[in-house]
Amino acid sequence: MADKFLIDKAKTVLNQNFQKKGFTIPSKNLYPFQWKWDSGFIAIGFAHFDMEKAKKEINSLLNAQWKNGFIPHIVFHTKNDSYFPGADFHKSSLHPQSPAHIDTSGITQPPVLGFVLEKLYNIADDKEDVLNFLKNQIDKVYKNHKYFYSKRDINNEGLVYIYHNWESGTDNSPVWDDIWKTMNPPRYKFERKDTTHVDYSQRPTDREYDHYIDIIELAKKFNYDDHKIAKHSPFLVQDPLFNSILIRSNESLIKLYKILGGNEEKIKYLKSKNEKSLTSINEKLYNSSIGAYSHFDLRNKKNIPLICSSSFSPLFCGAPDFKKAQRLKNTLVEKFGKEDYYLCSSFDPEGIQHDQKKYWRGPVWINLNWILYQGFKRYKFKETAKRIKNDSLELVDKFGFYEYFNPSKENSKKNNKGYGGENFSWSAALTIDFLHEK
Ligand code: DGY
Repeated sequence: MADKFLIDKAKTVLNQNFQKKGFTIPSKNLYPFQWKWDSGFIAIGFAHFDMEKAKKEINSLLNAQWKNGFIPHIVFHTKNDSYFPGADFHKSSLHPQSPAHIDTSGITQPPVLGFVLEKLYNIADDKEDVLNFLKNQIDKVYKNHKYFYSKRDINNEGLVYIYHNWESGTDNSPVWDDIWKTMNPPRYKFERKDTTHVDYSQRPTDREYDHYIDIIELAKKFNYDDHKIAKHSPFLVQDPLFNSILIRSNESLIKLYKILGGNEEKIKYLKSKNEKSLTSINEKLYNSSIGAYSHFDLRNKKNIPLICSSSFSPLFCGAPDFKKAQRLKNTLVEKFGKEDYYLCSSFDPEGIQHDQKKYWRGPVWINLNWILYQGFKRYKFKETAKRIKNDSLELVDKFGFYEYFNPSKENSKKNNKGYGGENFSWSAALTIDFLHEK
């Protein structure tokens, strides 16, 4: 398909998912509210053809920021019962610093906003206009980073924890399987809505949902108090993807503050945190026995030596030295890059837990591909970068703007479509960005 045609189709998806209240849903019915990291990627897509919508997207998300700097993973701008768990379940009002004017969740998602603001600035033709916008928004993102370093880096290592698998963005990754074994939640009574929109084989199991719900019940019991959650949550993980995104966003905030001028103290703070984060991510999360970065289970004090697409994300923030980067590339190509596979499967295709259909247990995701593409490009691994970009574009072109895709070329052809939500916003948004890149 010609680039122009694909871009037009992607724009239509974004425009159709854009809501009157000034935010964009990830996908009709399946995800009817505003999601944090979705919004960031969506803003990048809009920035290429409608900067006003890109700004609205960021603005409406940051408008739901809590007074302590926390940015929630869902903002419930409207009432809608096609999604579980909704506002009544999350009950953000339990936290004394949550906003009174809007309901949100009490968990977060990867801190993409720093690098998204930098992208908006780089894409903009009218730099002055975007700088004016940034002037009003950037301190909110800075405050969010301060929240992470002050509340979620309990050992002062420069590595922040997530307390829920939904915070990672890679919801049902096999990386969490052993953590679920340490828990024994009751069988909760709830009505799944996702499986009325998408086939059960492509979504997490009911039993997995019991664990997801259980952690939120615990957080609610403590009124979402960070200190108590850190002490008691059975799920407490240092995630290489989450931390790489934080580091990459620190880097962007530093650049933007320099452009804006007069922010010496903030730059100093971000630089010192970033230095520590970069050292720790290499010392603690790089695992030479598997040739990749991996997660650290802070609750059970052990490394989780599994390889998933997040394992390569430190390339995105420039963490590895060239030797480590080379090793990462080899691991990716050998394990994930077989000829009959699209890059990049969300979980090790050689692992027994790999499942080609099930959400984050194997399928290819366009947002992770975009992050890995930027990472490999940063290290000038041009061929690998090109392959990731080409595979991403081939998938959306052949099968449509789905949420995720079967990594096997043969099985993709048999299905002739993707999985999960259709007309999925970030798949469209990042296609637009890929096609604008030189
Ligand atoms: C879902 O519902 O699967 C979302 O990813 C969680 O926010």
